[in-house]
Amino acid sequence: MAQLDGTAVDRLVREHMAEGFCLLRVTPDGHGGLLDAQVVASNRAFGQLARQVEPAARRLGHVTVGDAASWLATLAMVVRTGRPWRTEQRSRREYRWFDVLAFPCGAPGGDQVGLLFDDVTQRKLDELMSLSVREYAIVLLDEAGCVRTWNTGAERINGYSAAGILGHHFEVFYGAGDRAAGVPAQVLATAARQGEFIGEGWRVRHDGSRFWASVVVTPLRDADGRLQGFCKVTRDLSERRRAEEALRAEVRERTRAEEQLQHLNRTLEAEVLARTGDLRRANAELAGARDRLQALSARLVRAQEDERGRIARELHDDLGQLLTGLRLQVDGLAQHGGTRPVADCVQLVDRAIEHTRRLALNLRPAVLDDLGLEPALEWMLDQQARPAGWETTFASDLRGQRFAPDLETTCFRIAQEALTNAARHAGAKHVSLSLRLRGERLRLEISDDGAGFDPPGQASVQERGRHFGLVSLRERARLAGGSLSIDSVRGSGTRIVADFPAPPREPAPPT
Ligand SMILES: Nc1ncnc2c1ncn2[C@@H]1O[C@H](COP(=O)(O)OP(=O)(O)OP(=O)(O)O)[C@@H](O)[C@H]1O
Ligand SMILES: [Mg+2]
Repeated sequence: MAQLDGTAVDRLVREHMAEGFCLLRVTPDGHGGLLDAQVVASNRAFGQLARQVEPAARRLGHVTVGDAASWLATLAMVVRTGRPWRTEQRSRREYRWFDVLAFPCGAPGGDQVGLLFDDVTQRKLDELMSLSVREYAIVLLDEAGCVRTWNTGAERINGYSAAGILGHHFEVFYGAGDRAAGVPAQVLATAARQGEFIGEGWRVRHDGSRFWASVVVTPLRDADGRLQGFCKVTRDLSERRRAEEALRAEVRERTRAEEQLQHLNRTLEAEVLARTGDLRRANAELAGARDRLQALSARLVRAQEDERGRIARELHDDLGQLLTGLRLQVDGLAQHGGTRPVADCVQLVDRAIEHTRRLALNLRPAVLDDLGLEPALEWMLDQQARPAGWETTFASDLRGQRFAPDLETTCFRIAQEALTNAARHAGAKHVSLSLRLRGERLRLEISDDGAGFDPPGQASVQERGRHFGLVSLRERARLAGGSLSIDSVRGSGTRIVADFPAPPREPAPPT
């Protein structure tokens, strides 16, 4: 391979020029084109570049290699026109770019062409960086944190122009709170200490708006490890964060809806359980009422039988005795005459009449039908008080008001059972009975100051099964469309209150 001339310029070119240079000798093909191009001289820089541009060098040295045809056509054009031609070529072997200048050497139409290779890889990278890397803000900071380089991505993401930000401290990208807390300085310190800072956080754009950034800061050091500055790569993750937040909100919403559903389910289950419980209780109450009713009917039948037995006994023992005595007296009168037997007969007849009246009264006092509720109850209180030795109080504001016969009977029987209980169980000193009319509601109250007892609700089932008086009170009140309450405290007496709807009795049609 030929060498350049030994002139000062040649030496300069050969030894000191940074660009690679080579001289080609071309062989024309006689038709305006070239057959071949041989490297006949080159400088030191070309020797170094040749390793990198090897395919191009080979192409030039051995015309059969690569797309030599296009190279030969280019060189032929340079030879023919006598004008230089410039192009940018990328080395195929590694990522390096060259600015190549082909120019004619020597006399016009001669056979020599010079090639100048300038390594423009860094410029190309910078261009690429600023043109194509729009997704990342790639910024170089000096050791103090002031912005030294600014790329397109940085402008797009942060909103500052290069002119507006170069030289300013990078803390302007942070919110006031972070700045006051010294976060920017901590980021640089962490990067310098650990070799890298990686983090996410809110940053502020030029227009004051915020964005969620992913930041990587790497310290830049020289060959001796001295800190030269930092490279900061920032990515705007606002979109991603928004999407994540939307997703999280949706998940929250779904979870809430699910919880609501579960809550509704539980409420529903609880309600079903409660209703089932209510139903069960109602069923049990119904069954209890049925049992009580059965027991009551049986008791009624027995009571009727007892009553009949008592009446039969009274008829036999008392009235029968009286009538037998009367018969004997009448016989004596027939045989002997005289006034004394007549007087005896009259006395016996009087007793029989009295006895019959008492019997009838006990069965159903005529006073109830004839005179009404007030006199009947007052009479009954008096009847019960005499043998028991009670003091009594009777009060009524009915003023002779009459009610339906069924209602009057119900009141009479309730008062009868309450007074009988007071006589049997209470050992009371004072018993009172009152009748009050409020609008169309009748209130009957019987109270005593006797022994009292546990409320019927607390008595055992067996216990309740043996006593029917209070049960029948309730049933009677219920059948009459009213209600009945029993208040009793041991040692403090008992109060029974029955309350009924009581429309006044229709006046009897004139006869
Ligand atoms: N005024 C009262 N004072 C004290 N205890 C009472 C009174 N009334 C009821 N009791 C108590 O309540 C129980 C239930 O009374 P209830 O009238 O139902 O049955 P009973 O009187 O025992 O029998 P019967 O079925 O013949 O009426 C009584 O046995 C008694 O212990
Ligand atoms: Mg009783």
